[in-house]
Amino acid sequence: MNTVNRNSIGNVNPDVTFLDSAITGLTAPQKNMSPKFLYDPEGSALFERICELEEYYVTRTEAQILQNNVKEIASSLGAPSILIEYGSGNSSKTEIVLANLRPWPVYVPIDVSQDALHAALRRLTRSFNGLDVLPVCADYTSPFDLPEPALRKSNLHSSRTGHAGRAAMILGSTIGNFEPDQLINFLSQCRRTLLGGKLLLGVDLPKDREILESAYNDREGVTAQFNLNLLARMNKELDAHFQINRFFHKAIYNEEKSRIEMHLVSREDQIVNIGSTIIRFTRGESIHTESSYKYSIEKFYKLAALAGFRSVQTWTDSRQLFSLHLLKATSSEHLR
Ligand code: AVJ
Repeated sequence: MNTVNRNSIGNVNPDVTFLDSAITGLTAPQKNMSPKFLYDPEGSALFERICELEEYYVTRTEAQILQNNVKEIASSLGAPSILIEYGSGNSSKTEIVLANLRPWPVYVPIDVSQDALHAALRRLTRSFNGLDVLPVCADYTSPFDLPEPALRKSNLHSSRTGHAGRAAMILGSTIGNFEPDQLINFLSQCRRTLLGGKLLLGVDLPKDREILESAYNDREGVTAQFNLNLLARMNKELDAHFQINRFFHKAIYNEEKSRIEMHLVSREDQIVNIGSTIIRFTRGESIHTESSYKYSIEKFYKLAALAGFRSVQTWTDSRQLFSLHLLKATSSEHLR
């Protein structure tokens, strides 16, 4: 049975903290905002355009790796009763995997964007007639429970059919947004949710500065719009008074930390009100809006091991731009 009604998108931890986060972040010595706030409806639409940019190799390369190895990936995943996808977005690459899994698992996409979830739900239930989709609108960076129906259905399934276990995917280098120590905690949490199941992870690789910086500073300026939209969103939702043309987008590769950083840089000394709070900017001062970490294969193995995963297999593209990892949750009790 398809689950297509609007109400089925449970908001597990509704957004009551945008204002709090903005005030805290913008009064810190290095002003900062969590990248999760980039994805309002406009931001999500802009991100979809980013994924199609010539310079943004991430989406295309990952889809290619998936396509080239999908038989192997599917058989390695086995026949999970439930497939969780963290940061599912428009679920476009999910189709490649789902099309090769038999029987279909209950699919649980999790994303902060309601819009993206609705679009994905509509498309998937059309292309996969009879697929069970249980979307969850949530910020998975804070702990949350899987929807009860998903757990119940996955248990029912496994007793009736050949389904076994749970699996999860985190594609598109979404994990790059975590600070490395937070990533270990998050992956540990995934491991506990997975109960010994498999995790398919897309991880962007370190590479030449030039390739990286042009991927995040595209010629059309879509990434700039995506970043600057955060100011427009604060104006709309938080009674903030940013003059958007007084800021510009900047993305740089911090090689020492192996991460791309996105900033919104103030063009001049200025004062911005957010409600009754006054935020001061000096000329050249920035808001750090995103970090996108890049991990070599070896470095990622070590990190995954700290979170209680062992590597089953890794795939890359011929230019070594991007990697796909299939990990297995170990069931060691001594881990965090
Ligand atoms: C969605 C976090 C994987 O870091 O490449 C794209 C977001 N930011 N262009 C990334 C993003 C600017 C993207 N992730």
